[in-house]
Amino acid sequence: MRKKIIAGNWKMNKNLEEGLGLVSEISNMLKDEYSGSAKVVIIPPFLHVAASTKLVAENSRLATGAQNCSNHKSGAYTGEISADMIMSCGATYVIIGHSERRQYFNETNDWLAKKIDAVLEAGLTPIYCCGETLEERETNAHFTVLETQISEGLFHLNAEQMAQVVIAYEPVWAIGTGKTASTEQAQEIHAFIRGLIGKKYSSDLAEEITIQYGGSVKPDNAKELFSAPDIDGALIGGAALQSRSFVDIIKSMN
Ligand code: PGA
Repeated sequence: MRKKIIAGNWKMNKNLEEGLGLVSEISNMLKDEYSGSAKVVIIPPFLHVAASTKLVAENSRLATGAQNCSNHKSGAYTGEISADMIMSCGATYVIIGHSERRQYFNETNDWLAKKIDAVLEAGLTPIYCCGETLEERETNAHFTVLETQISEGLFHLNAEQMAQVVIAYEPVWAIGTGKTASTEQAQEIHAFIRGLIGKKYSSDLAEEITIQYGGSVKPDNAKELFSAPDIDGALIGGAALQSRSFVDIIKSMN
């Protein structure tokens, strides 16, 4: 049985006080309202990770993560945060290759492959993001783009390492736009990604990999998306900034 994982990516939002307030609310609401199977990962800005992790320590359903990390282990890289530092704060997940990092910080697949190695070496779980732009979809290039992102970012891993990876399919045209991929569109891509992993590794391994959908997931579309056989959770931006909407999305997952 593959893991169902719902993650909230706060991006560059919330000061420390607001952030910790939100973590507490989510934790309390989940205790009262949710008995389903999903693992829930809160991914605040770096500065809030340690304190957020302490707050969720008692709640085994909850984990924390970071939104990025360096590809280097340590050293003279001013402003960077290493995977070991994230680990030492008690977080267990790291988003790698979010489209905003690809777009605004020029992160390439080769660069991201190194970050994946750093995250796995530290014993953390990478959430590797992939997704096509609107233009790529409209010109029917999306399958090729996704295949390149997945193969260049991940396929240097051996099977044991690959089994540790979570993938998030996030069509760029759906992120923060209020436009969600239809369940059919998302399912088609998730099955395609699983097929790529099956071909490269094995169908058993492909069956075990958690593939999240991301891009304008909201309480009113989550249930339908989660009903698709290859959608194993979500990576949520905007709707993760409020406890009510985030918890309602989580409650859509049995
Ligand atoms: P969104 O963001 O839910 O606000 O569309 C998703 C993401 O960027 O992970």
